[in-house]
Amino acid sequence: MCGIIGYVGPKPVVPLLIEGLKRMEYRGYDSAGVAVYDGTVLHTRRAAGKIAKLEAVLAANPVHGAIGIGHTRWATHGPPTERNAHPHRSADGTISVVHNGIIENVNTLRAALQELGYVFNSDTDTEVLAHLIQELFDGSLEEAVLSALTKVEGTYGLAVLSSRDAGKIVAARKGSPLLIGVGHGENFLASDPSAVLAHTRQVVYLDDGDVAVIEHDAYRVIDAHAATISRKVDRIHWDLAEIERGGYDHFMLKEIFEQPVSVENTMRGRLILDDGTAKLGGINLSHDELLRIDNVIITACGTSWHSALIGEMMIEELCRIPVEVEYASEFRYKNPIVSDRTLCIVISQSGETADTLAAMREAKRRGARTLGLVNVVGSTIAREDDGGVYLHAGPEIGVASTKAFTSQVVALALLTLKLARKHNLSVVRGRELAQAMHDLPAQIQTVLETATVIEAIAEEFKHATNFLYLGRGYSFPTALEGALKLKEISYIHAEGYPAAEMKHGPIALIDDQMPVVFIAPHDAVFDKVVSNIQECRARHGRTIVITTRDEPALKGLIDYEIRIPETVDMLSPVLAAVPLQLLAYYIAVKRGANVDQPRNLAKSVTVE
Ligand code: M6R
Repeated sequence: MCGIIGYVGPKPVVPLLIEGLKRMEYRGYDSAGVAVYDGTVLHTRRAAGKIAKLEAVLAANPVHGAIGIGHTRWATHGPPTERNAHPHRSADGTISVVHNGIIENVNTLRAALQELGYVFNSDTDTEVLAHLIQELFDGSLEEAVLSALTKVEGTYGLAVLSSRDAGKIVAARKGSPLLIGVGHGENFLASDPSAVLAHTRQVVYLDDGDVAVIEHDAYRVIDAHAATISRKVDRIHWDLAEIERGGYDHFMLKEIFEQPVSVENTMRGRLILDDGTAKLGGINLSHDELLRIDNVIITACGTSWHSALIGEMMIEELCRIPVEVEYASEFRYKNPIVSDRTLCIVISQSGETADTLAAMREAKRRGARTLGLVNVVGSTIAREDDGGVYLHAGPEIGVASTKAFTSQVVALALLTLKLARKHNLSVVRGRELAQAMHDLPAQIQTVLETATVIEAIAEEFKHATNFLYLGRGYSFPTALEGALKLKEISYIHAEGYPAAEMKHGPIALIDDQMPVVFIAPHDAVFDKVVSNIQECRARHGRTIVITTRDEPALKGLIDYEIRIPETVDMLSPVLAAVPLQLLAYYIAVKRGANVDQPRNLAKSVTVE
């Protein structure tokens, strides 16, 4: 979604802003812009479309300075045009604002400012901030921003620059992430650590309600009453190489191929083979507290919601604790039944998804213990949960989630193992599961070696307009995930269904043009799935079957087979997801789609 970068220091600011914006391109955006103070006036350059367009605007009409702010916009209020791109300027041109989030009382504020004679030049909610800050300005930019924020309802991560109180950027956060990149004789502001990592590893994550004043040799964090508050300096532990493509054509492909390592990293130091259990230091739940859990709610969005469905099955099967899975966007508004014996597991790659964060806060407010399964270290969910399990999958840049999904399933398996062993799971069964988890990285490697087979299948189906993905048991959420992967990057309509549900409607779609992907490992429901494959074949559907061994029952039923290794039922989604990711990837590439930045999508959805 939107990205913010800011810089104050001795260096020419434009290349730094552009580089920072490019590092955040993966988040998804549709226009971009910068504001630069040249020592006398503020200049704004903006363009609809990709950052290359902004670079062309800057090349034709350069600006120079050592302090500036930049933005990539993902449209909410008004279409993605130059006039709606950020930064937005105050009427007198002395204040520039970039903003992530949504101002909810925009209409009231706009009307009040119009009464005072302000003329609006965009459809955005952000422009009201620029005029409001001008209206309240009385010599100090931070005071004007603090005063403006008392009138604003909604969410924001914002950065403000003024030619009347130059030399500083004022930033504020409520519901939209922001951090200060601490340098030597220079400081940065960004909505994403990847934007500053080339320059500094020292970052200060702002909390909701924080306002920051950033100058070249100092920064301050203040509260709503301008009192200084202390925020610790964190260190970014990952490397720039991890957010570069490293020879792969796309981040998505790189991330698919990283899965033997990312899954290994999720388990590193946590799996105890001899005891058949897992060690999870961050969950902050004692033995007694674990046994006190009456029910579990898992909440998430998108791909993370699919891994939640797998977690539900694992926990219910092995721990015999009732589990409900809730879309975060629904959970927060449905008056859920939660008690102090409820464990609310919150799953999010980014740790910033607005609905997931709000759902977690709601569960907490109602007395649940919250446990975050998060990939991005230092993200808001990770900082606000009661306990957590980091995925350690490494930065995921491709908009389509791949390695985060497999690491989420593995993290859920670790948690299930720990919880189940506290309940009734025998050490023998625990060891069996732990060993199966231990074997996963090598098995994923085997699946990756079938990439050319999958690419050939993709060639066959690249012109399809619809796909069905079917599975049962643990393979049903995998089917949903396979369908989501295909639709989001190739724009082919795809649906995931429980295989037997096909008979209750979707079977009407099946003809000799319809590709149907069956996820059919040899698990507890294999024979049932074979019947469903037969039903599909009887209607001349074209079957692509992901399965685990030679099976006489499948003879004559398969048009295209993808073989994956056998594992225990609950871990089969980890292996089955990989060919589904590759199938979606190759089809999208063959259709010429922008795999890493699909249209309309954002990596981290920070608005409701
Ligand atoms: O960062 P999160 O895991 O909270 O993100 C949730 C969804 O927005 C995300 O999984 C989305 O569905 C992906 N594009 C799926 O590939």
